[in-house]
Amino acid sequence: MILNTPIDMHLHLREGEMLKNVLPYTQNQFAAAVIMPNLVPPVDNKERLLEYKEEILLNSENFTPLTNVFMKEFSEDELLDLADNIFAIKLYPAGITTNSENGVKTLERVYPVLEMMSELNIPLSVHGETNGFVLDREREFIDVYKKLATDFPKLKIIMEHIGTADMLYLLDEYENLYATVTLHHLLLTLDEVVGGMLNPHYFCKPLIKTPKDRAEIQKFVKSGHKKVMFGSDSAPHSIKNKLKGAAGIFSAPVILPALAEFFEGDIETFQKFISDNARSNFNLNVPEKKVELIEEEWRAPYIVGDVKPMWAGKKFKYKVK
Ligand code: NCD
Ligand code: ZN
Repeated sequence: MILNTPIDMHLHLREGEMLKNVLPYTQNQFAAAVIMPNLVPPVDNKERLLEYKEEILLNSENFTPLTNVFMKEFSEDELLDLADNIFAIKLYPAGITTNSENGVKTLERVYPVLEMMSELNIPLSVHGETNGFVLDREREFIDVYKKLATDFPKLKIIMEHIGTADMLYLLDEYENLYATVTLHHLLLTLDEVVGGMLNPHYFCKPLIKTPKDRAEIQKFVKSGHKKVMFGSDSAPHSIKNKLKGAAGIFSAPVILPALAEFFEGDIETFQKFISDNARSNFNLNVPEKKVELIEEEWRAPYIVGDVKPMWAGKKFKYKVK
């Protein structure tokens, strides 16, 4: 099967050695990816942004990085200066996930930025979790999404990495809300993390949730809903850091083989989820790139640099040519 211009709408590439190790897996499977800015220090100014973009371009070929910056109280001049080089601005509530210590503490403080983004047609990407009980954090954030969507009706808001099915119903209620779905929230449940021996490699934010959540997410994705887009949230950490408790799943190597099995027999919906929905929702200008999957048994890598991938060593029916 041939996919046209696959796009990963949520990706962590890190920088330096780690970036060099992980980027080839995304480049082989995708035409473009939205690159998350939660580095240390965060990508939150033009100088750092252009340096980072350059590092990605130097380490890839025939691949478009759609870069994001980390939300802060930007002035109008700063925002105008960034606009040409960003796809969106990423809002992390302070302290809620990996490297988000400098995130937003009080939403109202960035209201002027959201107002300007709305005028300039810059989308807002959101890590939607409160600091409540860990399994309720996404559900509790629904009210924040409702408020944002109502207060800024012209602002396109992306609810990232949906793990709680209840959030998906917002898509039909608010015209300006969109969602990304990861491979792990689509295919795994919390059992994979803590049901048997503890598996730190499947620990991520937001936590993977219940079979019911997974079933509803699968239903939405299979329906071809226009506002649901693939965003891997592939987030590599060294094995050493994973064993210390770092949140994030490195799924990049197995994405298209795993999705090809999930969408078996329905390449039309696969194409929408992996590319068309994103391109039409955000008018993305990404050069065309065809990616072919062939039916040939393939085994996922056991290790990439010092990172253990999702489904390490697992056999798949399809292979990326
Ligand atoms: C991400 C990371 O490691 O950067 N971790 C994760 O568990 N998903 C950050 C994020 O997207 O929350
Ligand atoms: Zn992420």
